[in-house]
Amino acid sequence: MDQARPSSTYGHLAMQYRDPADGAAAAKLLSALGFHECYSMPRADSGPFWHFVLDKAADGGTDRIVYLMQMPSAVRAVYDEIGAKLAGSPAVATMRAAQASDPELGFHAAVLVHSLDELEAMVRRVRALGANDPDLKGRVRVTLNRARPGTPEVDARMDASPVFGDVTQYTYGPNGVQVFVETDALIGGPMGDNWVFEFDYVFPGYDENILSRPTPRAPARAA
Ligand SMILES: [Fe+2]
Repeated sequence: MDQARPSSTYGHLAMQYRDPADGAAAAKLLSALGFHECYSMPRADSGPFWHFVLDKAADGGTDRIVYLMQMPSAVRAVYDEIGAKLAGSPAVATMRAAQASDPELGFHAAVLVHSLDELEAMVRRVRALGANDPDLKGRVRVTLNRARPGTPEVDARMDASPVFGDVTQYTYGPNGVQVFVETDALIGGPMGDNWVFEFDYVFPGYDENILSRPTPRAPARAA
């Protein structure tokens, strides 16, 4: 392997919101998720534009960018037509029910975090917003998968966790956890109202885990 060659990285994820009020709600949620707001600026022809990075420490704020902007009107028109023509659709109801039980059902993006303590704090922060915040109340669904049993010290950490302790759903791979945050404040999914962020933590020092590296030893469904 060429050690001198720097690797390519993800540059940015361009996220959109539907209305200006959704933009403020989405920006608040991104901050609660632990993303760092670098700046925001008003735009003459739409709602504000925000520039976040996944982590304040990520290359001095120049890497792993999340843009947040209002959906262009041409795209908005299509989603509005989808919503109108599929109103009451059994297929949509079936999809939503499936999504509720499996947040990974559709298109989503995952962040690999390096602190379980920070991830647990984020879960509590985001749940509080979804329960009480005037902009986000009822608009955030948080789903947790705890580490699959079998590693005593990991199992003990899970049992002691303030957020994973009573979880009964498990990741497919060992020694890792998953947190899913679904919201209608960001555009995603076929109806444009159920974007899903995933946050993964993998305990260090154990065997391969598909959440943190490519491996044929973990079931593909965990991706
Ligand atoms: Fe995933």
